[in-house]
Amino acid sequence: MRRFLIAGNWKMNCGPKETSTLLQGIGEQLNGMPEKVDGLVCPPMISLTTASVELQDIEGIALGAQNVHFEDNGSYTGEVSTQMLNEVDSEYVIVGHSERRQYFGETDSTVEAKVTKSLDAELKPVICVGESLEQRKDNEHMLRVRKQVEAALVNVDDEDARNVVIAYEPIWAIGSGESATPEQAQEMHDMIRSVWADRFDDEAANSIRILYGGSMKPHNAEELLSQSDVDGGLIGGASLKADSFTDIIDIAAELSQ
Ligand code: PGA
Repeated sequence: MRRFLIAGNWKMNCGPKETSTLLQGIGEQLNGMPEKVDGLVCPPMISLTTASVELQDIEGIALGAQNVHFEDNGSYTGEVSTQMLNEVDSEYVIVGHSERRQYFGETDSTVEAKVTKSLDAELKPVICVGESLEQRKDNEHMLRVRKQVEAALVNVDDEDARNVVIAYEPIWAIGSGESATPEQAQEMHDMIRSVWADRFDDEAANSIRILYGGSMKPHNAEELLSQSDVDGGLIGGASLKADSFTDIIDIAAELSQ
């Protein structure tokens, strides 16, 4: 039985001060993380240390970064290494978000390098995949996402596969207010799970958590999370307010009963 993972991708929002306020708000609203749901927040790099301290008071919510470099250290101005993320208690790292692919030149090959490096450093990568509106209109969405998933897994072995999370995020749904339909999400998640079965085995396919992301909000979380292959959400806008984030956690808890 897979546990829901409800993850907040804060993007370029919340410096250290706002991070404290938001996490304290989340802690108060939750009053204890529901037993059967895992939480995750991914603040900007500069707020990770603050978040790590605040999260000591909120059991059940892990810390993640939004990016990492694939080298150990050296002359890479502005970048952050896996070891630095380990030092601030980051357990997860988002890799290959479509905004990074679109604005910062990430490719399937840099994503693959980052996934491999993260797993070596015992960081759990949340690998983002998703198609553009054009690719969906051209009926290329399944193929595009399959290729992204396969490319990210080139160097992942059976053991490491257990520590990977996939987030399916159709680019047209991100920040648009228009989420994928539950059927569209389910169809894609089912395909991603079958890639896992082909690449590893049925057991690995049954345990991989596949999150949906793209305008997940309290009003549509239930129908999306009810799909059999949707194991949580990667939430942008709605993770920036304590009540909407915790509402989605509560919905996941209800569905886990
Ligand atoms: P959104 O962002 O929930 O604001 O659409 C999701 C994401 O980009 O991870």
